[in-house]
Amino acid sequence: MDRTDEKSIVSEPLGKASDPCVMVIFGASGDLAKRKLIPALYNLASERLLSREFAVVGFSRSEMSHEEFREKISKDIKEFATGSVDPDLWNWFIQRLYYLSGDIQDPNAYQRLQGLLSELDQEHGTGGNYLYYLATAPDLFSQIIQQIGAAGLAHEENGRWRRVIIEKPFGRDIESARALNHEIRKVLSESQTYRIDHYLGKETVQNIMVFRFANGIFEPIWNHRYIDYVQITVAEDIGVGQRGDYYDKAGALRDMVPNHIFQLVTLTAMEPPISFEADAVRDEQVKILRAIQSMSPEEVLRYTVRGQYGEGTVKGQRVPAYRAEPSVPPDSFIETFVALKLYIDNWRWANVPFYLRTGKRLPCRVTEIAIQFKRAPFVLFRKTSVEHLKPNLLVLHIQPDEGISLNFGAKIPGPLVRLGTVDMEFKYEDYFGRTPSTGHERLLYDCMLGDATLFQRADMVEAAWSVVSTIQDVWKALPHRKFPNYAAGTWGPQEADDLMARDGREWRKCDR
Ligand code: BG6
Repeated sequence: MDRTDEKSIVSEPLGKASDPCVMVIFGASGDLAKRKLIPALYNLASERLLSREFAVVGFSRSEMSHEEFREKISKDIKEFATGSVDPDLWNWFIQRLYYLSGDIQDPNAYQRLQGLLSELDQEHGTGGNYLYYLATAPDLFSQIIQQIGAAGLAHEENGRWRRVIIEKPFGRDIESARALNHEIRKVLSESQTYRIDHYLGKETVQNIMVFRFANGIFEPIWNHRYIDYVQITVAEDIGVGQRGDYYDKAGALRDMVPNHIFQLVTLTAMEPPISFEADAVRDEQVKILRAIQSMSPEEVLRYTVRGQYGEGTVKGQRVPAYRAEPSVPPDSFIETFVALKLYIDNWRWANVPFYLRTGKRLPCRVTEIAIQFKRAPFVLFRKTSVEHLKPNLLVLHIQPDEGISLNFGAKIPGPLVRLGTVDMEFKYEDYFGRTPSTGHERLLYDCMLGDATLFQRADMVEAAWSVVSTIQDVWKALPHRKFPNYAAGTWGPQEADDLMARDGREWRKCDR
């Protein structure tokens, strides 16, 4: 089949429009709203996936009129739109933007919100459906939810829905995540709670399930009999930028592992769910999180590595050390790099190590899942000039070059038996082009339709934190590391390489 035939598949209507609703953005003057949420809503509107009965209320502390808010957003979209902006559609869109200035802790502000929402229901036919997006500092999540509840704004009846999207970080350890879940449950049912992880908005992350379960050839070999190990990398070349304040309380482990990296782990490792229903998928994901072998303190020492970048050169530019970044204490001991080795204790993955690493100021930006298969028996090649066989490698490239590649051995033409390694490559862009996206479109759309498949359930976040908390506890009990221990622009501290070398393996470098 020629590629244009395949393209026609994606140009079919994309789906039904979302339910009528008002979306309330708490923290509307922040970065997330202007960079991601508003552009994503606009993209949904332009794909005709957003209901015509729709409105947005920006809620924030700063004083602004509806008109001033619209002007601000119209300025921001010029910078953050992911494609061209159609003036007519934009005009339609901003007529649906409203603003409410208020103190998140003030009950009166929620009374005013209630009044505005009722007006908008009348004016835009939004039917009393409300989606609250908590894009604020995490220590406000619980308060906002309590206030929404107290104002009667979380109550669902007569088919009207009320849903809350909660940004990460969801807690900072197992105890705080449990406490937050407990607070949320006082007001919201689990079906109203949408804990977001923006990695699940990435097409290539969603494609992991399709790749595994829509193709008959991979699943039979997707287990310990054929897979030697799995290596997952989420590398960033940027530093902490202006986020030093947040980051220095979090560190690489909390910031990336229980959420984004564990999403990649669970989707790679889970059993086929019995359907795409939210709970069917999440049941399988949580089983993986619970099956992650818990580490003894000795194992934490052996199987985890942390690092912090010093000054160095990234892509030819001199960059400062983490400790010299804005809002970072000059004696900070927070890690900006982490590498782990873990095992999933079930039949499918018995004795297959999962090596995970993430860090800032690494040589390149790359997120990928590399599945290393076991070597073929050498026996046939003994009397040839082939010295060793390279195992097959399947790489799911999540970003920036989205695609999938399979590496295998091929005969180098000539009279002798000599082997070369070659790549079979699929790139998303070659087949499907580029769809302008912030990565939040699908998640917002799903939430408006009540599909929680791509959101975290309470038990998932708790299971993920319980793995990470064991590591945190051991790290806390140890004396400080000698930080910085890797130069910006390198692949993390030497111990990360040692972790692999002890198993006779190596981390992958940027190769595309
Ligand atoms: C965020 C982290 O959740 O994810 C950031 O807080 C990180 O530190 C970001 O930079 C990475 O996201 P992406 O989509 O750029 O891979």
